[in-house]
Amino acid sequence: MQKIEKREKVLVCGGAGYIGSHTVLALERAGFEAVIVDDLSNSKASVLDRLQQIAGRSFKFYRLDLCKPRETLELFRQESPAAVIHFAGYKAVGESVEKPLMYYRNNLDSTLSLLEAMQKAGCRRFVFSSSATVYGGVTRMPLHEDDPTSCTSPYGWTKVMIEQILRDLCVADKAFSAVLLRYFNPIGADPSGLIGEDPQGIPNNLMPYITQVAVGKLDKLHVFGKDYPTPDGTGVRDYIHVSDLAEGHVAALDFSRRSVGCRAFNLGTGQGVSVLELVHAFEKASGQKIPLQIEGRRAGDIAECYADPSLAEEVLGWKACRDLEEMCRDSWNWQKNNPGGFPES
Ligand code: UFG
Repeated sequence: MQKIEKREKVLVCGGAGYIGSHTVLALERAGFEAVIVDDLSNSKASVLDRLQQIAGRSFKFYRLDLCKPRETLELFRQESPAAVIHFAGYKAVGESVEKPLMYYRNNLDSTLSLLEAMQKAGCRRFVFSSSATVYGGVTRMPLHEDDPTSCTSPYGWTKVMIEQILRDLCVADKAFSAVLLRYFNPIGADPSGLIGEDPQGIPNNLMPYITQVAVGKLDKLHVFGKDYPTPDGTGVRDYIHVSDLAEGHVAALDFSRRSVGCRAFNLGTGQGVSVLELVHAFEKASGQKIPLQIEGRRAGDIAECYADPSLAEEVLGWKACRDLEEMCRDSWNWQKNNPGGFPES
């Protein structure tokens, strides 16, 4: 990675969230100055204290709803960031099916207001939090960046639509650089155990469900489907350590300094892991037994989803390096030290 002379200021929108907070740390470690923007609608202010404990310094924080264009522009006038990483958005697939307008309104408005403010302020480097969900219609694995995009949920469509908005913007503004990062399944936590995933209510995703069973908050894991055409019949995903994912953003920022136009990259390990394999790896890493019950398939799930991560390695010089054991160990370390998640503050 290139050495930076002056600390480059980066606006981290959604920086108090799970992936955002780990990216703030990765940026700090790489010599960037992260400024956090978050409306705290799905995160807690105590994340900021934890980040300060780990980094040994405090981070500038703005509590702001990016859907408000005037306030967003004012933020750019005050901070003049060199680049923006945009994580802020609603992300629950099921909820998006129930409340599509809320998802379209929030995810699209916030992005448009952010991009308009960037345009007015002359800021032209943007890293976007996209998802493997944009490969909705593709069944042949591994997934490549040039596979067609499509989707099956309003949440996913907001990702597809924002990717298109960024492509169009890059056609109109030849000096703009947009990097689309398509995440696979982030799990794990910073090894300090001070920050991690803290879902509100009953977790939708597999790893936080497992860790809450391990810590005694939930009785047993419900495994959704054992009749998929996979080696053990359970769903296969590409789990990636959140710290690897965070470092992918640092690589994307470096890339945006030397590139213009819009490029998409998969951020995954390329390894497919089944639900049962993840449960067994977790049991081994934590020493905790996870009781489970096989259920029918969950609506909308697919049998397998994993990346071809080679483009990110070739172009960004980034590759995931933490293994499944480390992912499980760090997820457990976070959960056992914080059974109730982040404290209210
Ligand atoms: N699963 C269970 N039990 C649970 C939760 C999940 O068996 O309680 C299974 C699922 O059926 C699936 C696997 O665990 O086979 C992973 O499920 P997750 O919900 O953790 O992750 P998904 O791959 O379904 O969803 C993730 C992101 C979405 C994104 C999607 C596609 O959470 O935001 O990948 O990229 F849209």
